[in-house]
Amino acid sequence: MRRVSKYLGVSALFCAAVTGSGFAHAGGDKVLFPENFEAGVHYTTVHRGGIREDMYVSRDTIDAVKNGEPMPSGTVITLVDYREGKIFRYVVMEKRTGWGAEYPPAQRNGEWEFQAFNADKSVNRDEDLARCFACHKSQASNDYVFTLDAMKSAE
Ligand code: HEC
Repeated sequence: MRRVSKYLGVSALFCAAVTGSGFAHAGGDKVLFPENFEAGVHYTTVHRGGIREDMYVSRDTIDAVKNGEPMPSGTVITLVDYREGKIFRYVVMEKRTGWGAEYPPAQRNGEWEFQAFNADKSVNRDEDLARCFACHKSQASNDYVFTLDAMKSAE
């Protein structure tokens, strides 16, 4: 028994070293690549230098936001990040009832989880998801979303 637990301890250390952070990836792994995101509403685009960010969410979520309701459980927001016209990566946030309960209050973003995907739609294991939580936390009064106003004024 002792040898087994020793082995597990070593492998946990190894994972932390490989991902470059001690932050658990288990939460982010709840977020699957949103294969049909383009069937939703392309509600805004942000341009910054050579970067273009196209953002998508479902019609149900747009309707809820316009009605002043919270974004429903199951909401998936997809940001397609283009660099010099080519897809560079996708960043995704997803909200589901009951998610997020394991995080300390200082870190938790309501019921949201975050994930970063490479251009080939594989998970980017080098991403430090704690950064997503830290920055989006500033939008707590807007359900942790920066582009809530764009959703409200979407077609
Ligand atoms: C340093 C701050 C910062 C960090 C870190 C960050 N974001 Fe964002 N995120 C933004 C801003 C600002 C926007 C609004 C679009 C813009 O201005 O580029 C945004 C927009 C988004 C959106 C569209 C919905 C919204 O909030 O407007 C998603 C989805 C998203 N980010 C996911 C992620 C994920 C996943 C990560 C981590 C891999 C991440 N973000 C890390 C600042 C950040």
